[in-house]
Amino acid sequence: MAKKKKASKQKAKKKVVKKAAPKKRAVFIAKKKPIVEKKLAAPAPVAEQKTADAEEGGASQKHSGLQALRGMKDILPKEDQYWYALLDHAIRLAQFYEFGWIQTPLLEDARLYVRSIGKGTDIVEKEMYVFEDRDLERVALRPEGTAGVVRAYIQHGMLNLPQPVKMWYFASMFRHERPQKGRYREHHQIGFEVFGDPSPSADAQLIAIAYTLLSDLGIPVEVRINSIGMPDERARYIVELTGYYRAKRSYLCEDCKKRLNRNPLRLLDCKEEGCKPLRDEAPQIVDWLSESSKKFFMELLEDLDELQVPYSLDPFLVRGLDYYSHTVFEFYTKEQDAETAQSALGGGGRYDLLVEQLGGRPTSAVGFGVGMERIVTELKKRPDEFAQKPPTVFLAHLGQGARRKALRLLQDLHAEGMRVGFNLAKTSLKAQLDIADKQKVIYTLILGQKEMMDGTIIVRDMESGAQEIVDVTKIVPFLKKKL
Ligand code: HAM
Repeated sequence: MAKKKKASKQKAKKKVVKKAAPKKRAVFIAKKKPIVEKKLAAPAPVAEQKTADAEEGGASQKHSGLQALRGMKDILPKEDQYWYALLDHAIRLAQFYEFGWIQTPLLEDARLYVRSIGKGTDIVEKEMYVFEDRDLERVALRPEGTAGVVRAYIQHGMLNLPQPVKMWYFASMFRHERPQKGRYREHHQIGFEVFGDPSPSADAQLIAIAYTLLSDLGIPVEVRINSIGMPDERARYIVELTGYYRAKRSYLCEDCKKRLNRNPLRLLDCKEEGCKPLRDEAPQIVDWLSESSKKFFMELLEDLDELQVPYSLDPFLVRGLDYYSHTVFEFYTKEQDAETAQSALGGGGRYDLLVEQLGGRPTSAVGFGVGMERIVTELKKRPDEFAQKPPTVFLAHLGQGARRKALRLLQDLHAEGMRVGFNLAKTSLKAQLDIADKQKVIYTLILGQKEMMDGTIIVRDMESGAQEIVDVTKIVPFLKKKL
């Protein structure tokens, strides 16, 4: 009997409030105002123009205040949906393929990178941020992720764990390059590395993971692949290659003339128009590979066929880091504009000698890294696909006491898995209803002084303007039923 009485009391509380509200509450029922959209054609505000400049690789406009360094950019909340989507896909792939997450320090002993990436490489020679710290140690900001992961693998005795050991990371990298579209001095990479699996299937699986990551995000991917064999095979090839280019020295760009002595393999991926045609006639490394290297490569290609990962063979793909042996690969989008046609979305390869080179037991290894900024640039071409769903409910408050209650209610609604819009900084109800309108929520919950006292909350249907008063303790089941 008592239960019945209580229920009917609550029913009474839920009575529908008609549009004509009592005077005192008039403020609660602010009439729907047409939302004035910003004119699309209006020029971007100065602050935004600056950001765009920074996106192209540096803050070029003069500014009286401090700005991000040239080639470094802020990743702003307005693009978070793309970063979330990318990380979300990466995490899911890492979990499915059993990669553990690793985060190594941003700062390492500079020798780590010199020994792994290689003395004569652009990264070490021209791009690395190296300095002496306060203890006069020569340290470097991480220019790439693999070397640090190898160091950690050795340092933490992961050689003694059951192999293969599989790790992934997302981290910022620093290279003092000439900033331009898609090339920054700080960029972020997602990287996957496998230690202790000498089979070509490890290479194939990694390529397939990167391919899936990109294509699941809707990017039409092109995989380019090559084998650069083992160091002795490469050494013989380099003799041939150097001979070929020496004969054509006068046609080479200034950089390539230097490469001829320091790092002849890099002649093959020179982007200068004058150097490109020379490459077409250059000797190809495949002709210098041993039978076992060729067999390894063929098996990998067969695995890729089985995995239905389309690829194209690129006999001149050599990569810009010295630690690779056998397989090297890169990922490009098929829909590149001319400006970005040369920029890979990612790359990687096998580095069977690196663990030993850095002081560990000989351990085969293979991995890839993808550039997050470059992927996000691709995702931004399809903003609608990544737009986050706006909340369907907004919580408005009126008065300080109600704001405190609203704080608590938000927490409860979150615990129930509900997404609720709010703006605790606004004190006027009208301003809050305007926001609710803009967010196109279905319901706005209004918590005023009276409702606080009564233990109720007003539920306003944003379409019709009709309002109901609901027991605040029942608001979750009420909303769940309605939505
Ligand atoms: P990487 O080719 O030097 O390889 O870099 C991987 C990707 O990072 C590039 O394909 C590109 O998308 C992005 N990237 C590189 N430099 C920049 C830059 N300045 N601005 C924007 N994006 C950039 C590595 O770093 C190797 N550690 C990959 C690897 C992992 N190999 C084996 N395991």
